[in-house]
Amino acid sequence: MTTYRQIPVQQLNREQASSELAALATEIKLHNQQYHQLDAPLISDQEYDSLIRRNQAIEQLYPDLKRIDSPSKQIGYSPANTFEKVIHRQAMLSLDNAFNPDEVQEFLNRLYRFLGMSLSTNIDFIAEPKIDGLSINLTYTNGQLTQATTRGDGMVGENVTNNARTISNIPAALHGIFPRLVEVRGEIYIAKSHFIQLNAQREKQGDTLFANPRNAAAGSLRQLDPAITASRPLQFFAYGLGAIDTNGWTTPKTHQQWLIQLQEWGFIVNANYRLCHTLQEMIDFHQYMEKSRDQLDYDIDGVVYKVNDLSLQQRLGFISRAPRWAVAHKFSAEQATTTLKDITIQVGRTGILTPVAELEPVTVGGVVVSRATLHNEDEINRKDIRIGDKVLVRRAGDVIPQIMHVIPSTRSATSKPFVFPQKCPVCGHPAKRVDGLVAWRCTGGITCAAQAVERLRHFVSRDAFDITGLGIRHLEEFYRDGFVKTPADIFRLHQHQDNLVNRVGWGKLSVQNLLSAIEQRRHISFERFIYSLGIPQIGQVSAQIMAHYYQELPRFLHSMRQAHAKESSAYQELDDIEGIGQAMADDIVMTLNDPEQIAVIEDLMREITVQPYKNLQISDNHALYGKIVAFTGTLQHMSRHEAKAMAEKFGAKVANNISKKTDLLICGEDAGSKETQAKLLGIKIIDEKTWLDLCQQI
Ligand code: IVH
Repeated sequence: MTTYRQIPVQQLNREQASSELAALATEIKLHNQQYHQLDAPLISDQEYDSLIRRNQAIEQLYPDLKRIDSPSKQIGYSPANTFEKVIHRQAMLSLDNAFNPDEVQEFLNRLYRFLGMSLSTNIDFIAEPKIDGLSINLTYTNGQLTQATTRGDGMVGENVTNNARTISNIPAALHGIFPRLVEVRGEIYIAKSHFIQLNAQREKQGDTLFANPRNAAAGSLRQLDPAITASRPLQFFAYGLGAIDTNGWTTPKTHQQWLIQLQEWGFIVNANYRLCHTLQEMIDFHQYMEKSRDQLDYDIDGVVYKVNDLSLQQRLGFISRAPRWAVAHKFSAEQATTTLKDITIQVGRTGILTPVAELEPVTVGGVVVSRATLHNEDEINRKDIRIGDKVLVRRAGDVIPQIMHVIPSTRSATSKPFVFPQKCPVCGHPAKRVDGLVAWRCTGGITCAAQAVERLRHFVSRDAFDITGLGIRHLEEFYRDGFVKTPADIFRLHQHQDNLVNRVGWGKLSVQNLLSAIEQRRHISFERFIYSLGIPQIGQVSAQIMAHYYQELPRFLHSMRQAHAKESSAYQELDDIEGIGQAMADDIVMTLNDPEQIAVIEDLMREITVQPYKNLQISDNHALYGKIVAFTGTLQHMSRHEAKAMAEKFGAKVANNISKKTDLLICGEDAGSKETQAKLLGIKIIDEKTWLDLCQQI
């Protein structure tokens, strides 16, 4: 593509203008992506604005040359938001990982324990290659492809239907007989040989190269212009199902039968799957695939084991974000040696000082690695890692690269052990070793710029407030200039609009985009809000558990204030929540009673609205909905784990102990002291049979 950037707009002839518009469309698209999705702008905002203005001026001069994918049509939208958001009918979950046979054995133990079965009972598994691409959900209504969505955050994905339609092995219509609605799930990927061709072609055109086939597939699918997707060699393997409305159609009983059905409908199912009866057979298959990996024309990063019997899958259900009935057994990580140039110290949002290895860049499994985590001081001492050493670096999938060990023979005679700094490299406050932990922590608290900025970064991150366009670079700048010191300040950033527009590297357009992205987040779900507070140890799953338990923010905050006293029933209640351990409970209570945090939250509440928790797919008519239940004794028909999962599925909360808040006690055989306690407190008690009846009611 020839560009005529040096020619002033007024002097462009028609042909040059057309070529220039094409070049600008591609370039602006790239910069949008760099800025909004990768948070890594390649040019200043002024340069970006001048590209936009040039594009507009040419369009004004030659209105009939305006392109379908004209950047001027997309102004005001960030590309990350340009695809319509779609709530999945059925969540698209991820898989737990196992890295060795022992962890696969643990997976089996958990599964048998959950089902209350002895390990000698036979359960069949299907072992399949784990394709390293990106997952997609394809909805077929009356046999026609009606929607395709990316995984997104698992709950909400992006509508990429027009793009998916361009992929030749995604059937537009199902063959044979099919249910009224069915969702087919699988992996989109680019073959290794096609990837090499694609990058060679891009190199010739002067386009940036893709790092690996997976990135190429993701970048190709998420194109605003389906014609670009169509020009990329995307392929699809089907491996599973989402929601289904059978309307009388008889569903397969095993995963294997489903794979056959998917083929009959016209999908390509990866042929390298195997039915396994024992752990040994599963491990053998893993070894076989790991050996044949290089001969395949697509990347795989492990093997997935799935329970074959679908009724067992149903019983096993899910835990947080992954099914209990499947696990991904990853291949061993890829490794490379390089030189450790330096050890720097990163300050996290809770003040933890993390040593980071600065490496001579090296390619590990197709990705360039220049930094690796060193975890903590003990890790450095244990492995005796010194600046200047040659080290073995390992990278497993998306996991942060690690240093395995030093290559001792290459060590210089003058090298010295690394001395961990005694003060914070950012604010200079003394560092303190945290009781019971190996970590050092900066004592600067909220006065430490690094901690404050890291908290803000967590606050705006994708799983928290998800504010696009507010990357670390901007947060540092705004913090330094005093515009944003606390989360609430983000929502007051509009007061500085004029000042922002005038600063170097910022254009009117990017300021507008940012402010509108912020405005869109004034309403936030309860679980995201809890997560965004950055309480130590509280990740998405525990935030979700608490949101589910407390239902709304005022009740949660009130209860946490009361829980300040350890002997209070509020503390006991928190500690009793399944999935919230005591250490977590202590961190939550401590954080939410810290005067600084209280002030931050109160200030924030003046700017935003936190919505009450939305119970997903739970009918509030069910007799168990909203109830606090407890179990005692041995259940004959389901394991304790299964019973708890069942109760939660219907919207009940399961407590480990009896208190006056308990609504219902389910007694199995040989009930213990809980039964006596419940009788004393006048709590309703039911037996297993009545419990099973309750579970049947939908
Ligand atoms: S089954 C409930 N089977 O791996 C989740 N996933 O780490 C069921 N993947 O998001 C997923 N090959 O994108 C399944 N044969 C396979 C797979 C596979 C690749 C991906 C998928 C998923 C991710 C989880």
